[in-house]
Amino acid sequence: MYIKVKRGIAIASSEITPESVYHSRRKFMQGAGLALGAGLAGTSLLPSAASAQAGGYEIKSAGDLNLAEKTFWLEQKVMARKPAPQSGPYTTDENITPFDTATTYNNFYEFGTGKQDPSNRARDFRVDPWTVEVKGECGKPGNYTLEDILRPHTLEERIYRMRCVERWSMVIPWVGFPLADLLSRFEPNGNAKYVEFLTLVDPGQMPEQRSRFSTLEWPYHEGLRMDEAMHPLTIMAVGIYGNVLPAQNGAPMRLVVPWKYGYKGIKSIVSINFRETEPPTSWNDYAANEYGFFSNVNPNVRHPRWSQAREMRLPTPLFAAQERETLMFNGYEEEVASLYAGMDLRKFH
Ligand code: MTE
Repeated sequence: MYIKVKRGIAIASSEITPESVYHSRRKFMQGAGLALGAGLAGTSLLPSAASAQAGGYEIKSAGDLNLAEKTFWLEQKVMARKPAPQSGPYTTDENITPFDTATTYNNFYEFGTGKQDPSNRARDFRVDPWTVEVKGECGKPGNYTLEDILRPHTLEERIYRMRCVERWSMVIPWVGFPLADLLSRFEPNGNAKYVEFLTLVDPGQMPEQRSRFSTLEWPYHEGLRMDEAMHPLTIMAVGIYGNVLPAQNGAPMRLVVPWKYGYKGIKSIVSINFRETEPPTSWNDYAANEYGFFSNVNPNVRHPRWSQAREMRLPTPLFAAQERETLMFNGYEEEVASLYAGMDLRKFH
């Protein structure tokens, strides 16, 4: 069942909450001894009035999201998120991409190279239990459960443009928290100049990892310079569209760096490594001349095989292609240009 939240329409969360979610939330609140009326008013699982006004988006019932049942505790966290900001770089008044597009047109090569492979093949992906290894140049290395990782953070909604290097783009309402807040907890030391992330390796669950002909080397690996990782726009996402992340979008947590090409947004993270040296990255290993370490969205620097000056906003209705200009740093230039002051962005692409 879909519930469409239209721009500017004030609607009580109890009216639009899918029945299954409403009942499971009721159970949780009763269990927690909360006053039901007050609890519901303050903890909508669905878009706040602010985010609905920011463009409106479709919500699928939690029952249709393959992970909702398995991560009920996470759902409680999602409910506790901060309201969406109403203006500034953490949001946009551009139209939000429909939920169906963002969750069925994916890149997650561990599940196949076709856009629909992840949503078709990741249905039974298990995220519970989930452990993240933290290591390298920091004071608090160790193995952390997902709950250890998430517990101290208040989740918030960020509505960001996402620009893929393949020239399509979307606008996605993420639920997450600043990566800086997480990394600080591990006390990176003075040698930590970069941070490296790895995705799960589990060939039993990820069919492409069993293939002898897969495009990429596993695990999928990505990295950021420390100042990029600590930038307030960079988030660790655990949800989209007001709900937990579906497997195909990188459950249980993935990186979102909105001024970089989408492939920097590594999914299903199991390792965080603070390093003194620049980490290797998946697409750079695959073709260094095509995919740099920085991968900042830049309309002036061509991919060797195509121009990056324009992009296609998805979905593309028949006869009405949503082509538009690509913006420097994906429109976040004011916030991030200073990170690259004096750098040759052609060389350090
Ligand atoms: N992370 C992993 N582990 N494996 C991948 O194949 N693809 C990347 C990135 N993160 C990828 C990944 C690419 S190329 C893009 S464009 C984005 O995820 C797509 O995110 P989305 O499917 O949620 O839109």
